[in-house]
Amino acid sequence: MPVPMFPPGFLWGASASAFQTEGAVDTDGKGPSGWDAFAARPGRIKDGADTTRATGFHARYREDVALLAGLGADAFRFSVSWPRVVPGGSGAVNADGLDFYDRLVDELCAHGVTPAPTLYHWDTPLPLEEAGGWLDRDTAYRFAEYAGIVAERLADRVPMWITINEPAEVTLLGYALGEHAPGRTLLFDALPAAHHQLLAHGLAVRALRAAGADNIGVALSHAPVWTAGDSDEDRLGAELYDTLTNWLFADPVLTGRYPDENIAALMPGPVADDLKVISAPLDWYGVNYYNPTLVGAPRPEALETFSGFTMPAGLPFGIREIEGYEKTGFGWPVVPEGLTEILTLLHRRYGDRLPPLHITENGCALDEPLADDRRIAYLEGHLTALRAAMDAGVDVRGYFTWSLTDNVEWTEGASQRFGLVHIDYETLTRTPKASYAWYRDLIHAQKHQREQPQEQPKRNEPAEGAAEGAAKRVSGG
Ligand code: BGC
Repeated sequence: MPVPMFPPGFLWGASASAFQTEGAVDTDGKGPSGWDAFAARPGRIKDGADTTRATGFHARYREDVALLAGLGADAFRFSVSWPRVVPGGSGAVNADGLDFYDRLVDELCAHGVTPAPTLYHWDTPLPLEEAGGWLDRDTAYRFAEYAGIVAERLADRVPMWITINEPAEVTLLGYALGEHAPGRTLLFDALPAAHHQLLAHGLAVRALRAAGADNIGVALSHAPVWTAGDSDEDRLGAELYDTLTNWLFADPVLTGRYPDENIAALMPGPVADDLKVISAPLDWYGVNYYNPTLVGAPRPEALETFSGFTMPAGLPFGIREIEGYEKTGFGWPVVPEGLTEILTLLHRRYGDRLPPLHITENGCALDEPLADDRRIAYLEGHLTALRAAMDAGVDVRGYFTWSLTDNVEWTEGASQRFGLVHIDYETLTRTPKASYAWYRDLIHAQKHQREQPQEQPKRNEPAEGAAEGAAKRVSGG
């Protein structure tokens, strides 16, 4: 399927994160992160992969920058490891740690690749995690200090910034269900972790701007929530899940309000003052999209989900498996039209409050070492769906595929491979897959057409009804 042409200036990129790639967990003064400690617990990394080594990016970043340059990528979204820069979480700055990102940024710039760092991709410094992590308000202030430190050093060369990645997953998997670091099982008592991450985001936007950084965004996960079944219990379950995963984070950032007064009442305060900080204007907004979620009434029994983690019984909603679609290696359904649906939904819900978007993550795990034709088909489908959303009036400026190379897929270890480039975890040899050549050719073709003048897609008013195709969509707009 040929991918439609995108407007001139559209940014083509790839994404990665520090914990998943860097390794070198105690090299050059790096402190431990909550994830380092969690991964060291027996059985937490299901396949026993060595997360202390990961893909060896810390030592081999030049190879990966060369791979990005070979792709013709405009930008690379990587993350800065907070405990590499501030090992104790507050206090002394590790000069060697900052130097590493300085070298990485220089290397990217020398190859014409825009550095787009994320400041928090889940690796909280261990001393802060042990003091309560995101349950503790102080962590938000420490994060803003660190954001300022990084920006002071890099803002002269970094033209695009991301504060935090997917606070919804950190809250749900890390603090509510205990499947990810820090392994807390607080269920709804995890909500303060959401509020403090949002506060950290808002404070970091301030600190970044004060240090001269510009073009600031955030990377939030979004997925359409489809309702399983027709009962009121099904509808309520789906709506609650939709609120908790899609709007609990986006609404405060984009509108300065929580989506639900009952949830707002559970947040630690001063909520009204914090919301003013959290809703600091952004230059752009990042969407991570993988697949829709099918949700209905509570289930009487615990469920091992298709993502490999367990949803306990007793939650006020029940996740169901989506049938009838091809599945990725992870068992996630391949639903490109879900991307059109969620983007048009965001556009309709927020109207002019929605800044220009970037897709900051999208990709699939496959167990196909090099001939990954299914990844090519996945990317073709999702880029076509993205272009359809743009045709419907959604202002999208860039696409970062997840991921440049295979990497540590959190608790799944090395067993779920999302890369355009294969990693041999024995030798750390990088070998481009078929999808790498395909993405390179796509980027080339897109840039080549930019030499001819193209009409920009029009920015319409919120596209009413554009996403009505999925009959069972939960109305979040
Ligand atoms: C995370 C990535 C992760 C990807 C695939 C996102 O939730 O930001 O770190 O590897 O999804 O699971």
